[in-house]
Amino acid sequence: MDKNLSWANQIAVVTGGSGDIGAEVVRALVALGVKVASADLVPFPEVKSLSDSTNFFPSIVDVSNSKEVDQWIDAVTERWGTPTIAVIGATIVRNSTLVETSDADWDAVISVGLSSSFYVARAVIKKMLLVQAHGKIVFIGSWAASNPHPHIGSYSVMKAGTRALMQNLALEYAHCGILINEVAPGVVDAGLSKALFDKDPALKARALESIPVNLTLTTKDVARDILYLCSPENLVTTGIVLTSDGGLSIASTMNTGTPNRMKDKSQ
Ligand SMILES: NC(=O)c1ccc[n+]([C@@H]2O[C@H](COP(=O)([O-])OP(=O)(O)OC[C@H]3O[C@@H](n4cnc5c(N)ncnc54)[C@H](O)[C@@H]3O)[C@@H](O)[C@H]2O)c1
Repeated sequence: MDKNLSWANQIAVVTGGSGDIGAEVVRALVALGVKVASADLVPFPEVKSLSDSTNFFPSIVDVSNSKEVDQWIDAVTERWGTPTIAVIGATIVRNSTLVETSDADWDAVISVGLSSSFYVARAVIKKMLLVQAHGKIVFIGSWAASNPHPHIGSYSVMKAGTRALMQNLALEYAHCGILINEVAPGVVDAGLSKALFDKDPALKARALESIPVNLTLTTKDVARDILYLCSPENLVTTGIVLTSDGGLSIASTMNTGTPNRMKDKSQ
């Protein structure tokens, strides 16, 4: 078997690796034998400990600071070699209408969600080009990139920017064998959305009502999509948005489909 087609020969970097979705991705990659370096502002959750794995290298990094990002990617390369996979997911969200959004909140959302994505992708691609390595980059985007979210407008705008970043990079580096894609989850019952559901349980019920399959996503659903795009066997898929949202983005308030069908089946 071509060694480039084996998961065990891959070196991955994951940002937001201590978050709910990030930690799921880290664990899934380590389980496949991939060497995984994660970056986050906070330590990797103890309950999901991987301290016994020599294939896991967690770091505290502020990914909105390009110098810290460059130093982190240098450190990973020195330790294991050139990264072949990057999963870029560190994000924050600020709740407010756009007009009520302060300069500080706007700058924070754009800098942590969009500028950091550019810094990480740039640093990793430079390393790949140096040794002519093929590789995979997956941005964790959102269905909010193409569906306006008035209560979190800055997040929605930031995710649209991340999508444009993904598409531009995908076109620029396809000829080098660097394949760049986005996963766009709908509502995941974890991380950012779970924090909102915990504050307002009625919100989850309302969200479920508008999702045609009548299910929220799990972190495992998102990790599965990311692994699909990162697979060493993927030699052609680039520049796509893999939307997994239970039909949310194709439904409208006029016609949400038949959301009660799944409920009826389970009764
Ligand atoms: N939860 C959802 O419903 C949902 C839906 C669609 C997309 N997403 C996307 O999934 C990704 C992960 O989100 P999540 O829901 O797991 O949230 P999360 O809050 O659990 O994870 C985000 C992580 O990013 C880290 N982070 C924040 N600022 C950082 C910085 N400056 N430097 C380094 N790390 C930083 C946080 O510490 C956190 O661990 C995000 O890109 C989010 O937009 C989530």
